[in-house]
Amino acid sequence: MIRSKLPNINASIFSVMSQLANEHKAINLSQGFPDFAVSPKLISLITKYMKKGENQYAPMQGIMELRQIISEKTEKLYNRKYNPETEITITAGATQALHTAISTLVKEDDEVIVIEPAYDSYVPVIKLNGGRPVFVQMKHPNYSIDWNEAKKIITSRTSLIIINSPQNPTGATLGAKDMEELEKLVKGSKISIISDEVYEHIIFDDQKHESVAKYPNLAERTMIISSFGKTFHATGWKIGYCIAPESLMKEFRKIHQFTVFSVNTPIQYALAEYLKNEEEYLKLPEFYQSKRDFFIERVKDSRFSIIPAKGSYFQLLNYTGITEEKDFDFAVRLTKEKKLASVPISAFHHNKLDTKTLRFCFAKSEKTLEQAAKILCSI
Ligand SMILES: Cc1ncc(COP(=O)(O)O)c(C=O)c1O
Repeated sequence: MIRSKLPNINASIFSVMSQLANEHKAINLSQGFPDFAVSPKLISLITKYMKKGENQYAPMQGIMELRQIISEKTEKLYNRKYNPETEITITAGATQALHTAISTLVKEDDEVIVIEPAYDSYVPVIKLNGGRPVFVQMKHPNYSIDWNEAKKIITSRTSLIIINSPQNPTGATLGAKDMEELEKLVKGSKISIISDEVYEHIIFDDQKHESVAKYPNLAERTMIISSFGKTFHATGWKIGYCIAPESLMKEFRKIHQFTVFSVNTPIQYALAEYLKNEEEYLKLPEFYQSKRDFFIERVKDSRFSIIPAKGSYFQLLNYTGITEEKDFDFAVRLTKEKKLASVPISAFHHNKLDTKTLRFCFAKSEKTLEQAAKILCSI
């Protein structure tokens, strides 16, 4: 037997719940993927570039046309210019970007601040690099961050803080006030930041996404990560990007080139052309807000209580008062007996903190959401 590098890591909760959903023919609102079609225009653009012969290795950092348009989009939306030559790299989805970014920034014995409940791919990569995650808990049920708590756990070994807004799994967003607090927290330190912004275009109620790019004192020390899989309803394509100041990006690319080297070529060309029409991503808040509202309108009279989602495509429902069961047990029972799969929030806490809350993905057709809501109302 080999000695495991990640002895306590098992199959992710998304795989577990999705498999259970398949076995029991349940509606799957557990994993975060859309059940509606990708734009036919985008698909025909990929075909176009494949037929044109764009099927060989792309440059290591991604094709220039795509990096250029990401640079323009970032400047327009967040008022900061990143040099496409030296500060933007195309990645095989946000997962690879996160893996590479964490590997770039975390060394043996470094401490990394992770805000929980947290997306599950941060902690294993911190550990793989010999780092130690230290946790700040967002406050259930409104999931705000007490930045004083983060301040208290900073030591001389703290090398990195990972933030995520709009947030998976809570749907919480960071506002301008949070960014000011974060600025104060890292001021005068050598702490780097990874800002996971994969849901940057899925934000509701007329809020503006507070990208780190908008804050010069933060941007100078931050790797920002985004995902076209999330933005264009194509999670299976695994394509995203990282943007960071040149000194950080130089180190990121050293690892990136030996992780994937480069990312599939025809999709890069297709996205570069597709992104010219900014409506394709600017329409997303309205698109997803109407799905959120459709879903909550139909579950509002159920016995679940709704925790408002300010962004992302996840809706939290609290079931205190329905049963005393642990969230994992309840999620499994809902899948097996009621044919509806969700994700228990304890899975996003290192200590399995159970707030009796489940996460439901509403990136689904109205028909699917309607069926799911009916089940929830029957409980
Ligand atoms: C917060 C967050 N970051 C990163 C990812 C990974 O994105 P990708 O599918 O592009 O690897 C996800 C996917 O669920 C996510 O929710």
